[in-house]
Amino acid sequence: MPVITNIEDLRRIYERRTPRMFYDYAESGSWTEQTFRENTSDFRHIRLKQRVAVDMDNRSTRSTMIGEDVAMPVALAPVGLTGMQTADGEIKAARAAEKFGVPFTLSTMSICSIEDVAENTSKPFWFQVYTLKDDDFMRRLFDRARAAGCSAIVVTVDLQVLGQRHKDLKNGMSAPPKLTVKSVANMMTKVQWGLGMLGTKRRFFGNIVGHAKGVSDPSSLSTWTAEAFDVSLDWDRIAQFKKWWGGKLIVKGIMDAEDARRAADIGADAIIVSNHGGRQLDGAVSSIRALPAIIDAVGDRIEVHFDSGIRSGQDVLKAMALGAKGTYVGRAFTYGLGAMGEAGVTKSLELIHKELDVSMALCGETDIHNVGPHILYVPQGFG
Ligand code: FNR
Repeated sequence: MPVITNIEDLRRIYERRTPRMFYDYAESGSWTEQTFRENTSDFRHIRLKQRVAVDMDNRSTRSTMIGEDVAMPVALAPVGLTGMQTADGEIKAARAAEKFGVPFTLSTMSICSIEDVAENTSKPFWFQVYTLKDDDFMRRLFDRARAAGCSAIVVTVDLQVLGQRHKDLKNGMSAPPKLTVKSVANMMTKVQWGLGMLGTKRRFFGNIVGHAKGVSDPSSLSTWTAEAFDVSLDWDRIAQFKKWWGGKLIVKGIMDAEDARRAADIGADAIIVSNHGGRQLDGAVSSIRALPAIIDAVGDRIEVHFDSGIRSGQDVLKAMALGAKGTYVGRAFTYGLGAMGEAGVTKSLELIHKELDVSMALCGETDIHNVGPHILYVPQGFG
């Protein structure tokens, strides 16, 4: 086993161990993938200020996100088909998050259902919803999340229509995977993955099985999205979800200050500045570039969270310094999961935590709450 020192090491192992169609599903952006790439590369334009001769004892990355205690301000983002990256992937990721003391967000498009995850964990998790046309089904999803003890819902608002990812179309990506000569030949080389899949019954979208009846090809993400998602979603509908749910609600997918104000107006508890990891509007600015203007607009009214492009503890530190109150990782934990299951997710969280802690200290801060713009050199265009 190679020595794993960073998230990129996990990505390489993940690539070797995972069937091509699922690796490509995660490691891609829409169209030209410009936004996907800039989400990570733009972090490098932001530089940190080194400070010295500061007492570095008693450091803490502990904080809160929507009032919940977190060991560090890093949650696991909702990632569809996590249970195809490795068997029972959502349960494994949720367990790793729980042990580490960070929130886990279950996607609507998960393989393990809300109930599967609740039965196999002991702390409340967050549930992400996509807005479907079918109101009855939406209410049932909320009821199921409530019955499972979920402590927040995350309403994703940037995917009413699906950005095209060329690789998924070329691979015929589906769950369970379609059996073609090419896909079977590829899957046969992924022994550990295959044995795991043979050992589980969870191979279809666990939250939507009841709903997928009547949709022409429920195993295909793009077909199901096109037929079931509500393209007329507006702020009134999101406000209605807040009423139905009655608890904490986070709006995910905000890239514009006016949209951030609308989310604050309807009483959302937090927003996530996110471009869906570069998977939706290709050509959009990177998420980290959009963050400062949104903090200026609503930072004093609503908790602003951040995702898209985080691959290290330093990325977390930079987002926090620009004003985010919490962050999420999508691919960074998925690489760990596909590489080494639950232990890999733990490893990815450990790597991020260690780098966050040490970098914060080298910037002269010992408490994550004191991290602010003063630790940054911010170039023009970042606010
Ligand atoms: C996602 N994302 C996502 N978001 C969401 O609200 N519901 C979902 O089902 C999914 N599914 C999904 C699958 C995969 C494979 C990826 C990579 C991402 C977006 C995700 O929550 C988050 O916004 C991004 O992953 C953040 O970017 P990074 O951390 O992956 O760069």
